[in-house]
Amino acid sequence: MARRTITNRDARLLASIQVPGDKSLSHRALIFAAISEGDSLVTGLGSGEDVRRTIEAISALGVSVEGPEIRSPGSSNWTEPTVPIDCGNSGTTMRLLAGVLSTSRVQATLIGDESLSGRPMDRLVAPLEALGGRIVPSNGGTAPISVGGATDVRGARFSIDIASAQIRSAFELAALAAPIPSVIDSPPGFRDHTERWLMAAGRGEWSTATAFRINPGPLAPARYDVPGDPSSAAYLWAVAAIHRGSEVLTPNINLNPGRLGFLQVLGEMGAEVDAVVTGSIGGDPIGDVKVTGRTLRAVEISGGLVASTLDELPLLAVVAAFAEGVTTVSNAEELRAKESDRIASTTAMIQALDGAIEPSPDGFQVVGTGFLGGGEVRSEGDHRIAMAAAVAGLRANGPVEIVGAECAAVSWPEFYETLEEMW
Ligand code: S3P
Repeated sequence: MARRTITNRDARLLASIQVPGDKSLSHRALIFAAISEGDSLVTGLGSGEDVRRTIEAISALGVSVEGPEIRSPGSSNWTEPTVPIDCGNSGTTMRLLAGVLSTSRVQATLIGDESLSGRPMDRLVAPLEALGGRIVPSNGGTAPISVGGATDVRGARFSIDIASAQIRSAFELAALAAPIPSVIDSPPGFRDHTERWLMAAGRGEWSTATAFRINPGPLAPARYDVPGDPSSAAYLWAVAAIHRGSEVLTPNINLNPGRLGFLQVLGEMGAEVDAVVTGSIGGDPIGDVKVTGRTLRAVEISGGLVASTLDELPLLAVVAAFAEGVTTVSNAEELRAKESDRIASTTAMIQALDGAIEPSPDGFQVVGTGFLGGGEVRSEGDHRIAMAAAVAGLRANGPVEIVGAECAAVSWPEFYETLEEMW
């Protein structure tokens, strides 16, 4: 396991950094292109291992990926993979592919690494079976999953009880193969990329603020220019937020509202936040974000804000350590089903750095002491823990040693070099 030591940087930071392509949109651009018969063009793909898994997965279905050029025979002509498709650490690869394959002719087995093999896949079964899709997870409701070979695909209305974009997207992609329209509903707060993209492709519309109707049929090949990832930019925004007077500008970022909970929270904590929309991709707004560090105060995060902040909550715990007051996160039990149990791993990270954190069944409380100390943080194989610990190291009173630092490559292989070169 790779170790990496991050030490305190005191000097004021003024930086402008283009972060790598958005992971959520990279998966979707690749899958949309793979469904479409013909030649699509995808630029700006994320550089991480998760995105590579989706490239390999669609290649196994007979889609040719050469640089930005993607040539697909269309989902009805995919070839059946001869070996299991390895989704690595990537939950989005597994869940979105399980969706689209479940209602296809092609039969495949989806496998993942140890972390992904422990994550819940049974939540896909009821929605996809409602469409006549075939999906059979292993006994524990986890990967390996056997999917596809459906014979009786039908339209359905389905409501799920968590605001999960992955499950909604799995259903929506599966429903493209149904003979009549389908509708999916869930609580609010999810990232609605798939809905926006299906709408832009003429394949869906909103029935209510949360219910989306999928109008089935083929997708036309298209060009997708993937913007920067707000979930990666978040680490840089946090660096600026906890260094008073520092400023970070991240141009060309995906500004889907379902991704901006953390930015909103930084603003509520007292950081200066400036976001300017400059364009759009498939209905997702794109723009430039600048964050300037100011005195921070604690916040409370619960309810609708949880889903749009979820991936950034380990990082929020680091920021909260430098804010005045007690920051409380609740209704976030979903954190336990991520790449690690993020309530446990976030607690262990902050405690290893002498911060004051108290876990709860559905979140945590951080007492802002105004400092973190040096220490050894175990990533637990979770990229978001490793990267949050690195941000802490830049402000901590002693060196922060990250054990298992290499997992940052899942979303951002060049992350540590970017941090080093930023000042
Ligand atoms: C993702 C959706 C989120 C998020 C994950 C990426 C996506 O998961 O946590 O990192 O691209 O659809 P859920 O919406 O399923 O909770």
